[in-house]
Amino acid sequence: MTAQIDHALEEIRRFRPSPEFAAQAVADESLYRRAAEDRLGFWAEQARELIQWETPFTEVLDWTNPPFARWFGDGRLNVAANCLDRHVDAGYGDRVAIHWEGEPGDSRSLTYAQLTDEVKRAANVLAGLGIAQGDRVAIYLPMIPEAVVAMLAVARLGAIHSVVFGGFSADSLASRIDDAEAKLVITADGGYRKGKVFPLKPVVDDALDRATGGSVQNVLVVQRGGNEVGWTEGRDQWWHDTVATASAEHTAEAFDAENPLFILYTSGTTGKPKGILHTSGGYLTQAAFTHKNVFDLHPETDVYWCTADVGWITGHSYVVYGPLANGATQVLYEGTPDSPHPGRWWEIVEKYRVSILYTAPTAIRSFMKLGRQIPHEFNLRSLRVLGSVGEPINPEAWIWYRHVIGGGSIPVVDTWWQTETGAIMISALPGVTDLKPGSAQVPVPGISVDILDDDGKPVGGEDGGLLVITEPWPSMLRGIWGDPERFRETYWEKFGDKYFAGDGARRDEDGDIWLLGRVDDVMNVSGHRLSTAEIESSLVAHPWTAEAAVVGAADETTGQAVVAFVILKASQADRVTDVAEASEELRRHVATQIGAIARPRQVFIVNELPKTRSGKIMRRLLRDLAEGRQVGDTTTLADTSVMTAITEQVR
Ligand code: WTA
Repeated sequence: MTAQIDHALEEIRRFRPSPEFAAQAVADESLYRRAAEDRLGFWAEQARELIQWETPFTEVLDWTNPPFARWFGDGRLNVAANCLDRHVDAGYGDRVAIHWEGEPGDSRSLTYAQLTDEVKRAANVLAGLGIAQGDRVAIYLPMIPEAVVAMLAVARLGAIHSVVFGGFSADSLASRIDDAEAKLVITADGGYRKGKVFPLKPVVDDALDRATGGSVQNVLVVQRGGNEVGWTEGRDQWWHDTVATASAEHTAEAFDAENPLFILYTSGTTGKPKGILHTSGGYLTQAAFTHKNVFDLHPETDVYWCTADVGWITGHSYVVYGPLANGATQVLYEGTPDSPHPGRWWEIVEKYRVSILYTAPTAIRSFMKLGRQIPHEFNLRSLRVLGSVGEPINPEAWIWYRHVIGGGSIPVVDTWWQTETGAIMISALPGVTDLKPGSAQVPVPGISVDILDDDGKPVGGEDGGLLVITEPWPSMLRGIWGDPERFRETYWEKFGDKYFAGDGARRDEDGDIWLLGRVDDVMNVSGHRLSTAEIESSLVAHPWTAEAAVVGAADETTGQAVVAFVILKASQADRVTDVAEASEELRRHVATQIGAIARPRQVFIVNELPKTRSGKIMRRLLRDLAEGRQVGDTTTLADTSVMTAITEQVR
């Protein structure tokens, strides 16, 4: 696989920043110099410059108990006040914080003053429902301003939010509610997607029937979809009955820099999602620093748009915390890119004169497929910086993005990071770095990475290896909720004091970093992480299934696609006569159990799976098959004829 990707990513073009861009750029070389000379001093300066501290910190990093870092440990701040009140206090209350665009075409703009009032009201309601420091609040909302308000209201109280993407199923929501023991769920009746209302509150009701912990005391419901919803008196409350009428007086209390801010669940290599824990001061510092420097943010004039949903880390760091800490004006869009027409995104760029756009390669590739005539119908000349995140961006997509969307000469930054890293770790800086399509390029100032072989030795030359982060960083995860042992094992056991990211990477002769995809059993579908184990256990939970193996197969649009190989139970053989129907039923089952994003592209019904003598499934061979390649070396199989049989069944 690596060789193939290497080949696809072979790219020699380089683009120098234009002198005009460089002259006005926020970032310059001195950031790298300062960080190289005194890394901790550099982060302390950024933390003081970008964040308002109620109690200034005197200690920068405490790494005496690795892998548990403490950043700015004796400082105190309120994260929400940093994103809101301080901008109002500084005289920017009338600046638009959010231009919100609903999918059906309704829209609403909120200034910093209005957003601040709204968050204060919501904080009063939450406090009235008994939410206090350290309590967990699950948020299951569409992309509406209330999602941002809810997150900030929770943060304002020093409580912990756990945002669950609105596309996740009742089961997934229930297990996240249980794991975090959430006291409150904030949801909506429904939201708009592809021209229709998709229900959310009914899923929450279903989830609360399934949740075994019984931790949830209240459900706060925003009215958005207008769809019919069930109601549990005493437990459920409408947002418009409570928040709209609440007082907008609320004084933000300061909390410790290490006060937990949020939990965000992400797929790991086992079936159980991990609750990644982030805290306050360090997280906000790095989110704000990278948002400002990687996107060349000029908050007075820029209109920024990150297309990610707040249900993912990109939405946390680059819709909510980074942009709002920096006082940016941004666009928030509720719906899908092609509703009601395929030019919807470009229409939004034109309407709001978006100047910075941050999106994912999978979206760019699907626009490429539709052709340049669609974006060309709109005026995109306001754009001046483009960003990419979620998976490697192939050079063709990079070039298309720069030319067709960006008009040919504006910087494109490919940003590598993870839910765990909290903020961007590897990226070019516009106006500073010579850009190289396909490569994420260099660690941002203050970040140290390396590429190691399996034994922990740095790889030489341009060989591929494993990406590690060699020094603690401010926005690093502080653990896995409720499971410190899994935290240690997953990220720190392999290389001791170095963070193991789970990605393959190589350096080219200029020292630029190229990401080569996951090295574990995590798939990346449309920039979303999915675990093979989680989908396998969902398939096996179906009464027809005896055994299942899942692989991520290369896909032109989504990067990878989920492909499953399933053996049916002998006892079911009579019942299941139509193979196509059976595979359709299993695809549906996974979508219902986990969420539509996990629905396999294909489910192949087979009689056997390729296993080694020790019984391990050789996914590599199944991937060859799923990608239409010649099946590789089968000599370590217990039964070498198995792959021939499977191939016949599949083709
Ligand atoms: C992948 C998303 C190559 C990578 C912010 C990582 C990338 C995983 C890039 C994290 C990129 C993200 N180039 N690969 N620019 N950005 N990835 O937690 O495999 O949803 O480990 O965070 O996405 O996904 P996550």
